[in-house]
Amino acid sequence: MYNSKIKGLGYYVPDNVVTNDDLSKLMDTNDAWIQERTGIQERRHVVKGEDTTTSMGVKAARIAIERAGINKDEIDFIVFATLSPDYYFPGPGVLVQRDLGLPTVGAIDVRNQCSGFIYGLSVADQFVKTGMYKNVLVIGSELHSHGLDMTTRGRGVSVIFGDGAGAAVISREEDNSKGILSTHLHSEGQHAEELSLLAPGMGSRWVTDIIEENDPNDESYYPYMNGQFVFKNAVVRFSEVIVEGLQKNGLKKEDIDLLVPHQANLRISQFIQKKFGLSDDQVFNNIMKYGNTTAASIPIALTEAWEKGKIKEGDLVVLAAFGSGFTWGSAIIRW
Ligand code: UT7
Repeated sequence: MYNSKIKGLGYYVPDNVVTNDDLSKLMDTNDAWIQERTGIQERRHVVKGEDTTTSMGVKAARIAIERAGINKDEIDFIVFATLSPDYYFPGPGVLVQRDLGLPTVGAIDVRNQCSGFIYGLSVADQFVKTGMYKNVLVIGSELHSHGLDMTTRGRGVSVIFGDGAGAAVISREEDNSKGILSTHLHSEGQHAEELSLLAPGMGSRWVTDIIEENDPNDESYYPYMNGQFVFKNAVVRFSEVIVEGLQKNGLKKEDIDLLVPHQANLRISQFIQKKFGLSDDQVFNNIMKYGNTTAASIPIALTEAWEKGKIKEGDLVVLAAFGSGFTWGSAIIRW
């Protein structure tokens, strides 16, 4: 068995900033409500036609590959996590292979919503640890804004989500004391419909256009979230899966140097922070700037934390996510 580590990180968000005040011009909401309930101040929305889920992922990937110090031709495999693919099929993994001009390496798509990046990281980790691949590109990217209900009817969901992408190169590590120590994955399909999008036939077309042409009153094209139910499950599962990861490695909460939680809601992060007795410096949040970017949120946050020098060699970094499915997971990393 080999060790695997995160060798390079990158992220990309569209330039277009949408503030809470901008949203309050479209629907009955306000900055105070959004900040108080979620911590979000602004998010990024793609300007129609300027980016896709794949193009954002590719931009993030180019940065991650460069920082990994490898040539793109050394990528052995692609893992792409998203709930907002360009096409219903094929998934964006193969589009990345094409757009980056990679050799004909394998590509898979991960459909685990907010936990997508951790699931993808786990897949990459297994391939590298077994020796099958040396460098795996993992991307999380989401274009939410083209499918949100920007009216008062959809305000409980649409104020939360933002667009963006993050990427990581997972590589073989010779030093046994470093790298991804373990990953932990769970699901509970019993609650599948509590945070879901049930309408078929999504894809590269803007959902808002499809609805306009068909039935503007058809809510099934928009995501649904039972917010309070999801919140209550999230805080329990986040805690469980962090403890599971620590225990698996004989570690305690005091050993955590940095927790990077999926950016679902600042209140969830704060709850977890308090529960684990962590200081503000030990938990990285950027939901204030980007909203909830689902599969992209952890790689964007991890990249920003790394860029800001918040992760040092030897640090114990914990990633944790919970979301639609329900699915949840954690990764325990010795940097
Ligand atoms: O990333 C995947 C996992 N997702 C999560 O973990 C999200 C978990 N859930 C949440 O973060 C929270 O439940 C929300 C932020 C989504 C909602 O916060 P809440 O405190 O649970 O609010 P609520 O849905 O219970 O709504 C409270 C009130 C309602 O009005 P009434 O019935 O009390 O008159 C809503 O209609 O707030 C109203 N409301 C809004 N008001 C202004 C809902 N959305 C908005 C809005 N602006 N955007």
